[in-house]
Amino acid sequence: MVGPVPDRPWFESLTDPSRAERPRAWLDTDAPRLSLDGRWRFRLAGRADGPEDFADPAYDDGAWADLPVPSHWQLHGYGTPAYTNIAYPFPLDPPRVPDENPTGDYRRIFRVPSGWPPGRTLLRFGGVDSAALVWLNGVRIGSITGSRLPAEFDVTAALRADADNLLAVRVVQWSAGSYLEDQDMWWLSGIFRGVDLLARPDGGLPDVDVRADYDPVTGAGLLRVVTRVPARVRVPELNVDATTGEPVELPSVEPWSAEQPRLYEATVATDTETVLLRIGFRTVRIEDGVLTVNGDRVLFRGVNRHEFHPDRGRAVTEEDMLADVLLMKRHNVNAVRTSHYPPHPRFLELCDRYGLWVIDECDLETHGFSRVDWRGNPSDDPRWRDALVDRMRRMVERDKNHPSVVLWSLGNESGSGRNLGAMAAWARRRDPGRPLIYEHDHTCQDVDVYSRMYLSLADVAAIGRHAEPALPDAALDVRRRRMPFVHIEYAHAMGNGPGGLADYAELYEKYPRCQGGFVWEWIDHGLRARSGDFFAYGGDFGEELHDGNFVADGLVFPDRTPSPGLADLAKVGEPVRIARDGSGLRVTNRYDTRGLEHLKLRWALSAGGEAVADGVLDVPEVRPGESVVVALPELPEYTDEGHLTVRGVLAADEPWAAAGHEVAWTQLPLGPRKVASPRRSANGMPQRESGRLFVGPAVLDERDGRLVWLGPFDTSGPDLQVWRAPTDNDRAPHGHALEPGWRRLGLDRMHRRVDAVDVDGPSVVVRSRWAPAATDLGLFVTYAWTGLDAQCVRLAVDIEPDGRWPGPLPMIGVVLGLPGGLDGVEWFGRGPGEAYPDTGLAARVGRYRRTVAEMQTPYVFPQENGRRADVRWATITDRSGGGVRVDGGVPFGLAVRPWTTAALDDATHTTDLVPDGRTWLTLDGGHNGIGSASCGPPLPPGYLLPAAPTHLEMELSVTPPG
Ligand code: GAL
Repeated sequence: MVGPVPDRPWFESLTDPSRAERPRAWLDTDAPRLSLDGRWRFRLAGRADGPEDFADPAYDDGAWADLPVPSHWQLHGYGTPAYTNIAYPFPLDPPRVPDENPTGDYRRIFRVPSGWPPGRTLLRFGGVDSAALVWLNGVRIGSITGSRLPAEFDVTAALRADADNLLAVRVVQWSAGSYLEDQDMWWLSGIFRGVDLLARPDGGLPDVDVRADYDPVTGAGLLRVVTRVPARVRVPELNVDATTGEPVELPSVEPWSAEQPRLYEATVATDTETVLLRIGFRTVRIEDGVLTVNGDRVLFRGVNRHEFHPDRGRAVTEEDMLADVLLMKRHNVNAVRTSHYPPHPRFLELCDRYGLWVIDECDLETHGFSRVDWRGNPSDDPRWRDALVDRMRRMVERDKNHPSVVLWSLGNESGSGRNLGAMAAWARRRDPGRPLIYEHDHTCQDVDVYSRMYLSLADVAAIGRHAEPALPDAALDVRRRRMPFVHIEYAHAMGNGPGGLADYAELYEKYPRCQGGFVWEWIDHGLRARSGDFFAYGGDFGEELHDGNFVADGLVFPDRTPSPGLADLAKVGEPVRIARDGSGLRVTNRYDTRGLEHLKLRWALSAGGEAVADGVLDVPEVRPGESVVVALPELPEYTDEGHLTVRGVLAADEPWAAAGHEVAWTQLPLGPRKVASPRRSANGMPQRESGRLFVGPAVLDERDGRLVWLGPFDTSGPDLQVWRAPTDNDRAPHGHALEPGWRRLGLDRMHRRVDAVDVDGPSVVVRSRWAPAATDLGLFVTYAWTGLDAQCVRLAVDIEPDGRWPGPLPMIGVVLGLPGGLDGVEWFGRGPGEAYPDTGLAARVGRYRRTVAEMQTPYVFPQENGRRADVRWATITDRSGGGVRVDGGVPFGLAVRPWTTAALDDATHTTDLVPDGRTWLTLDGGHNGIGSASCGPPLPPGYLLPAAPTHLEMELSVTPPG
């Protein structure tokens, strides 16, 4: 029998039972505030229906433990984190939740400080996941739902002035609200944002609403500060001293933008309360199908940011938030989408202050309903209407005064439906000054900006040309076709990658309609394992359902170390483009609003990677969008391969970086590339002795032609290598996976057959065929060894596919095993970071030195990494300087690892990787591109590595250990 259950518990309620205060802005006020953060008493139960006696002040919590607030209880040893992307980890039976419902009871005793003013007192929760009941001194105060939204309660009547107050809170992990909070992230519960007691002085300011417009034509500002009670607004810098509610016209103000985040300090005051504001004047519009701020088209070089810390989860601190903002600014990121919920309000203050465009997103995602064809989706069920509108309202009211917030997002991946329409209608009425966006609304019926995720280059270009496929509804189609487009998620930064950033950037610049995008995503959500030595992902906590390492897909590692992908993003996002133009340098200003006066152009000449000369170029005056050509500096004579590197650096400190910080660069190869010393001729003939062939410093096994010694170094190989430890993008759990085909083919289990080991004049020629079992496909590999002197041997490798290989190969090259004591690497080539055909934009030619350990990029899920590109030469040496030098006849790809590719392939956590006592040197003639197919389109054909004849040539020289 099917039927409704009449009496549902409080946490399954859909109507708002909370008795919360009317939503309002998060104000910086001089009214007293008492933070209740700190250690609370805590216990965890398995169900939500335990007795509520703990709310009684007389209750003895001696048997409980302490838990910090804010925090998630799962990260303090209570229960376990769980990760799912789309699936709900409970049955879909909205709004019901399972009986097993981890429930945290919290108690905190506090005293009201002396001098607390007469008037009302509010209790504010910044964020509680997922729902809570609150008591003060045994009096039930209300309930909370909406995890990432604030809730305030009037506790005046229950509060004791001169005695202990007992605050008791029951928090459930699962509630009706959980159906609205199916974001792709860890399920983590508890009071995870701060709790405050707020004095509301009589005659104070319940709320302040600021509108500060800017007219780009006249330079005038229009300020309207609205309060519920009469007050005075003062902006000393602008000589404003006015009554609230009245528009104040200002003939000339400096506008706010992400590039020049000009804020004016202001106060709004009554006799009993003063609120401090930081006002930014800006006007957001859609003009002729283009999103503008202050009349200028904006181009979002954005990232999607979840709140995350590897130890604290979403209970992030101010330092974490500041670290994010500074890292973003320093990597030329200019925009953030607060995926997928309103962030801690302090984060938005930082965006105002340092300058980032923000898409503020409502705490709403019901993606898991897609698994049941959206049956019962709360987005379209009228019973959920108020709950959804309430979420929108709480976000807009809280964040309305932030100049950085330029768009409101209704939420993420919640299908479509009437309740989204109701949210949109409410937001439009309340705040006509900000357009709306919501990706799942493919018809754009509720929004002002068209957005999609993970489109191919061709699809973005089609939108750019206003030539996207038509909607069935002609009127909606016309309307959508006139909208600006934002690629709300693209370039899935999971593991190695994302590839192809430059290709997308080009389209955003080419088509005015395509106003940039937001890389998915900012940070890997790897949780630090208790042992402290690796980052855990889905499945590491024994979850019944999980999505593995799909949770680790950020531009920074869980500890906020930038990954190579972030360096690439900084390069494509550089606000100045410097490029060769004939005999000069073209300098293009890619800022939306700013000139280049704050920059210096520094040049440096290097030869063979060594510095030769440097200097400073005059920065021309260039307006946004324009470019000029400047003369190249006079260069001194030099020998060896020359490079001129020109860097745009900050001339003076900015709030987010010190003078000298690099915002843009280019590198010009000078003259023809000189790659190796003139070809040397053979010196001496191969010698045969006791089953070995001696050729220069190389000693080969006569039977199979494999290297046994290279001078004094015990060596193995060179073995053909066409396998790479699959990247997340090769594995592509949600996309176009290459890995399964590669494994089916057996590229990870090749067999070798040696056909001949011949002495041919001065050379030893080894002919072999490499192939996987069960197929007739293979690769012929010919190695030719020629001694040049006692320390140096030339190796030429020719690889020739046998048969018709169906698709791309992961890579093509050879691997050599060397003694593990050779653990220092120096190279002349691109660096310092890794580079693959469609990544490594940040890697420039130079001389670099790293330990073998430092050559590894520690992706949370081990995979191919650490390859350096266009290497001219490299040395692999021990501490005494003894070792092997490789000079490429043509530049090669280089990876140096303390473990084999097979071990890297087998590893699932970084701790599985243990140096095996050898140093494995991989020299490649090509790699397949990286792409971002882990969630996105397939790798564009231009980045595929065909199975094609490949020639590698190098000189191997030996220096004995000192
Ligand atoms: C999107 C979603 C994100 C994340 C991403 C894949 O569909 O909006 O939350 O799941 O895919 O990492």
